[in-house]
Amino acid sequence: MLELSGIGRRYTVDGSEVTALADVTLDFPPGSFTTVVGRSGCGKTTLLRILAGLEPQSEGTIRRGSEGTPRIGVVFQEARLMPWLDVRRNVGFGLRGRLSAGAMEKRCDEALALVGLDAFSGAMPGQLSGGMAQRVAIARALVLEPQLLLLDEPFAALDAFTRRAMQNELVAIWQRRRPTIVFVTHDVEEAVLLGEQVLEMHAGRVVGHQALNLPHPRDPTAAETNLHRRRILARLMAAPRPSRPNRPETLPEPAP
Ligand SMILES: Nc1ncnc2c1ncn2[C@@H]1O[C@H](COP(=O)(O)OP(=O)(O)OP(=O)(O)O)[C@@H](O)[C@H]1O
Ligand SMILES: [Mg+2]
Repeated sequence: MLELSGIGRRYTVDGSEVTALADVTLDFPPGSFTTVVGRSGCGKTTLLRILAGLEPQSEGTIRRGSEGTPRIGVVFQEARLMPWLDVRRNVGFGLRGRLSAGAMEKRCDEALALVGLDAFSGAMPGQLSGGMAQRVAIARALVLEPQLLLLDEPFAALDAFTRRAMQNELVAIWQRRRPTIVFVTHDVEEAVLLGEQVLEMHAGRVVGHQALNLPHPRDPTAAETNLHRRRILARLMAAPRPSRPNRPETLPEPAP
């Protein structure tokens, strides 16, 4: 169980107050796949960091259920690898001391195979392209077998072919292991291709909530997928651009 109630987050930037999140109330059922979409600066990363417990909220409450804190895997917007460790050691960093060396190596290599990098386990981060580094970061989250998987625009740096392959792989992992996934993206098509529920964010608020009862794999050109994409895009495009960063404002009614 993962529930947010009345979550707000304010920052002081250059003497004035910025509202990164305001009055966010959400429920992420166990095993659900939620995508969060909205323009730059709308609060997506802040929401994810609060879900990860990496950032305190200014107000509101988070409920995580009775079983204590779940195993959480996070993929940040940038790869954030440790340049002095090879790829396998980067992937295994969160498992140190929990497994024997042999078991750990096996788990890491399996995770690297999932992202297509099994041949690079001995490479150093400086020898990777940006997209490869990001795939290592995804393997580092998957290797933990997380119950809650939080991803912040994980595929934004990938070429279209690799992105599509990784999207399919992520859906397959979700179907196999059923972690609760919260996936942030600024790409409406990606949000609609992946999510069971799509949250639309604008200026620190969740302004739309779409349940997508479509089977996987989804076809981006199928009429239904395309219709959802166009509606969400139209609503978010119509939302007024904040004159100051994230001043709370009202949205126009969604188009029919
Ligand atoms: N540590 C911080 N200190 C001050 N302000 C912050 C901080 N983190 C975020 N903000 C502000 O909060 C707002 C939301 O930022 P956030 O990073 O959550 O946006 P985002 O939706 O992830 O954007 P992007 O798509 O560009 O990554 C922005 O106005 C930003 O300036
Ligand atoms: Mg962000």
